[in-house]
Amino acid sequence: MTLENPVFCALDTTDLGRAEKLARSLKGSVGGAKIGMEFFNAHGPQGYRAVAAAGLPIFLDLKLHDIPNTVAGGIRAILPLKPAIVNVHAAGGAAMMRAAADAAREAGSDRPLVIGVTMLTSLDASDLADTGVSGTPSDHVRRLAGLAASSGLDGVVCSAHEIEVLRRDLGKEFKLVVPGIRPAGSDIADQKRIMTPAEALALGADILVIGRPITGAGDPRAAAEEIGRFLAA
Ligand code: C5P
Repeated sequence: MTLENPVFCALDTTDLGRAEKLARSLKGSVGGAKIGMEFFNAHGPQGYRAVAAAGLPIFLDLKLHDIPNTVAGGIRAILPLKPAIVNVHAAGGAAMMRAAADAAREAGSDRPLVIGVTMLTSLDASDLADTGVSGTPSDHVRRLAGLAASSGLDGVVCSAHEIEVLRRDLGKEFKLVVPGIRPAGSDIADQKRIMTPAEALALGADILVIGRPITGAGDPRAAAEEIGRFLAA
């Protein structure tokens, strides 16, 4: 997958009409759209196709996590939708990630990128300790990202603050997909550790996932174009 525009807009809604309208109006001003479990659980493959009809590459963010055979089946079942990116939890382990990557390869040259979710940013060190994981969140993210790379995944989702170290650890081909991005001066809402699109890109992010700064704007297309101008500058 080659992308001229690194911005994927998160369409976090269960409103099918709104998602379709956003996708149509954003075509040409973002690199793709992200559809998550909220939308997909409400509208399924049919809703997905309605949004994808706008022509944007789609990141289908379902964060699969199950035994290898089931995850492979889950990936195979979504291949006919031709998403550009799919994802699994890296905590599912090496065999699960390998099964996911192998299943995606069955789509040949049209295959989606398979990305690992390392550590949810809603968790902190004490939440990690509660799940039996010792060490810092940063160590945990590096360990899981390394495991994702050695298990054949194409990249990971990470926070902007982990871009530098993961780029160093894992080289320049490994894709870093980064949410928590806020254009300078925009409302940060519930995101805590934010960075501007240009900063994240300069550090080595490949894909910037941006939701509300675009979808919550009075004119989403104008907001996306404004971000694009900053990135091109
Ligand atoms: O609206 P906002 O720009 O905060 O949207 C960010 C998107 O990225 C949402 O879909 C959110 O679920 C997702 N995400 C995130 N942080 C992560 C993983 C995913 O914000 N660590």
